[in-house]
Amino acid sequence: MLRSLRELDVANKRVLVRVDYNVPLTDGRVADDTRLRESLPTLEYLLAHRAKIILISHLGRPKGKVVPELRLDPVARRLSEILQRPVTKLDECIGPAVHRAISTMHPGDIILLENVRFYPQEEANDEAFARELAQLADCYVNDAFGTAHRAHASTYGVAKFLPAAAGLLLEREVTMLSRAVDNPQRPFLAIVGGAKLADKIGVLKDLIGRVDAFLIGGSVAFTLLKAQGAQVGSSLVDERVFDDARAALQAARAAGTQIVLPVDAQIVRDGERALAPARAIPEGWQGWDIGPQTIELFRNHIQSAKTIVWAGPLGRFEAPPYDEGTRAIAQAIAQSHAFAIIGGGDTAAALHRWGLGQAQNIYCSTGGGATLEFIAGRTLPPIEILKA
Ligand code: 3PG
Repeated sequence: MLRSLRELDVANKRVLVRVDYNVPLTDGRVADDTRLRESLPTLEYLLAHRAKIILISHLGRPKGKVVPELRLDPVARRLSEILQRPVTKLDECIGPAVHRAISTMHPGDIILLENVRFYPQEEANDEAFARELAQLADCYVNDAFGTAHRAHASTYGVAKFLPAAAGLLLEREVTMLSRAVDNPQRPFLAIVGGAKLADKIGVLKDLIGRVDAFLIGGSVAFTLLKAQGAQVGSSLVDERVFDDARAALQAARAAGTQIVLPVDAQIVRDGERALAPARAIPEGWQGWDIGPQTIELFRNHIQSAKTIVWAGPLGRFEAPPYDEGTRAIAQAIAQSHAFAIIGGGDTAAALHRWGLGQAQNIYCSTGGGATLEFIAGRTLPPIEILKA
């Protein structure tokens, strides 16, 4: 059982809250505030219980250095607009200025610390740094489900030094995602798309045997097709993982897990558009979306599925009309009888644009990598450490 925020005495206490405000920025503004909004139940609970709220998050991958474009000021501004109350942004996470600011806080005040990944100690899970973070507060709440697959100082190390509990978002994510881990209803499908197979191959292997079938799209599919010797023209592939891809295909065969790859693709060359068999794309052409036969094939699987987990778009959905495949599959899921978990901000944002985000059977997780790792049954240390 996860220790819950409700078990902590937070009245008049300084509460360090790890959130995942790793959000897209455009022209210095938050382009998608879903992750901010998803943290509201925890923030509102803390405000209602008169806590002093100290927020800490990462943004992007600054690799332990100060990167001015990755400062959290735009996030503080947007959060303040949403909450309609001041959010004081500090330019550091530790040190005398931070202690001074915290010492003057009143119940209901909110401070947002600077991007914690500006400190190399964060990703190194440095103990001294975790202790310094702990010294800022009386207790610690982790609500950063999106970062729950990273054992860093602010997600993991700090929990050793303070009374620690899960925030309401983290709690909800674990409850919802557990439905796909503990006795999922079958057939259980994993739909996997997006660009980088290298990022996903490990977790895909872990899912073999857990799910009944994979439906694969996006560039991930072209890498798997090419690894099998298919002609994918100039489609984006990741040659570094060909060996892993072949091993995964073999492991799936051995485990009786079906891997369903595209049979046709929308292809593009210099602005020209055509349809081709996915295994015979002419040289110079790039696959940009799954084709109509593949949509039909995937739809058939979705219609009989009972549990679905989906990560990554199936084509270049940001460039219509190459969003057709992703949209058709989203519609098929919304109309199906399956309980579906959608991971990764991009796919969830697209679903909301198409008016499908509210579908009763769909749960949009705030995590991408974390969601897949959780469903693949991996141990996530930042969650483990909050178990009673
Ligand atoms: C995410 O957006 O998936 C999380 O914030 C984790 O980000 P990371 O992959 O840079 O650790």
